[in-house]
Amino acid sequence: MSLLCLALTGETLLENLEHITSFGDRVDCLELRADFLKSAELHSLARFPGLVDLPVVLTIRRKKEGGRFEGSEAERLRLLKKAVPGGYRYLDLEEDLNEPELERLVLRAGGSIVRSIHDFAGIPEGLAGRIKKLARRPGDIPKAAVMPKTSWELLKLMEVFSELRGMRKILIGMGEAGLPTRILAARLGSELTYCSPPGRQAAPGHLDPATLLDLYRFKSITETTGVFGVIGNPIGHSLSPAIHNRGFEALGIDAVYLPFLVDEPESFFRMAGLLGIRGLSVTIPLKEAVIPFLTERDERVEATGACNTMFRRNEGWFGTNTDAGGFLKPLEEGMKNKPVSSLKATVVGAGGAARAVVYALVGLGARTLILNRTVEKAEILARKFGCDFAGINGEGYRLMKNYSDLIVQTTSVGMEPDLNKDPLPDYRFKGHEIAYDLVYRPTQTLFLKRAAAAGCRTIPGLEMLFNQAVLQFKLFTGRDYPKGAFYS
Ligand code: ATR
Repeated sequence: MSLLCLALTGETLLENLEHITSFGDRVDCLELRADFLKSAELHSLARFPGLVDLPVVLTIRRKKEGGRFEGSEAERLRLLKKAVPGGYRYLDLEEDLNEPELERLVLRAGGSIVRSIHDFAGIPEGLAGRIKKLARRPGDIPKAAVMPKTSWELLKLMEVFSELRGMRKILIGMGEAGLPTRILAARLGSELTYCSPPGRQAAPGHLDPATLLDLYRFKSITETTGVFGVIGNPIGHSLSPAIHNRGFEALGIDAVYLPFLVDEPESFFRMAGLLGIRGLSVTIPLKEAVIPFLTERDERVEATGACNTMFRRNEGWFGTNTDAGGFLKPLEEGMKNKPVSSLKATVVGAGGAARAVVYALVGLGARTLILNRTVEKAEILARKFGCDFAGINGEGYRLMKNYSDLIVQTTSVGMEPDLNKDPLPDYRFKGHEIAYDLVYRPTQTLFLKRAAAAGCRTIPGLEMLFNQAVLQFKLFTGRDYPKGAFYS
């Protein structure tokens, strides 16, 4: 079990009380970040614990540890001493602070000391040893908040967790790369995770209580919870955690699915071994880069040169690709009795996503034309799969006349924030085409809007995204994705 602590970053105590009214019933304790308070409020610190029903940590964080306190160290200590008799359960004091009188006051008032290290530059050398030395008395809780920025640094931090297994501590990886350590606090053996009210982050990477509790089911995570995730770069806006976690929740599966920001696969896979990750979705730009780490792969990976799904098998990683299957599912569902093989299709783009689409279409026997800005790339893909090809130009538009039952848009053109960009600006839809856009932000791209206005059937990219995830879910869990858990 790991406690959830709401960091209070209001400028006034009243504002903090309002945050407690909104979120207090969802968390186990509070941290009053008094360094966020206006200076006039600092004289009332001793009143605060009496106004709330939860245990409170008092922190007046100095600037060098990422806080906002502007006054002198003497003033900070004076404020802390004055506040302690008010009934704070914990006082957060920095590693280098040596104030026996203040510490005696805390113990006399029945409180405990959180002894903390902060490092915004990375994972300091010798961190495990420093944490071991932090607790000066029984009852002190050692805490380190450090900033992994790369996969290698996250690996280093996980090694620290391993070395300190079984020891009482709070250990946190800040920032986007450190997010898994916040969510997995209970599994990794960190006594507490901090969160902030939405939009009021006290430190980099803080999630809000609802995201931690509802999306990641923080309270149900234990030492034995199965870990899955999505790896990519960037990864912050991925929808995959919502899809998979809701599936786990609906079926009562003891597992959690996290985003992992990965800049370099080698360290990541060492970390994955240490953490015992069971399955992974792989997204841009890693779908090719993960292939050398597979111990087994199927012909989908061979044919597309891309792996979007990995899971543990025989002590190694089995790799496959669900993009083609995820692409076909919504297409086939709307086809009534007409087979996909009867379609004459244009695929716009010749990158990784196009490869999976062309593989799917040609595999079913659909005649396919590939159009790409860089015609040489269209040619390479076309030769591999026996398709026609052209640039996105007069010749391409002419050829499209014979390939217009289905038009699949696989480039990033039209994706947020470029809502007014059109991948096929000179193509006029007639109304008989099926228009399929792999872009899912926004759900209705300009390309799809133009097609719909001409009366075409349209398929938004969210459907492929969802269906490739559903296929992954089955591979990860052996269970069918529960209907209606995310999107129906
Ligand atoms: P993905 O894995 O998403 O397919 P990718 O492999 O980088 O990503 O491929 C991107 C595709 O989008 C390519 O076909 C690219 O065209 P080029 O081969 O000419 O680069 C296409 N693309 C990206 N930006 C584009 C733009 N502004 N106009 C036209 N095509 C574009």
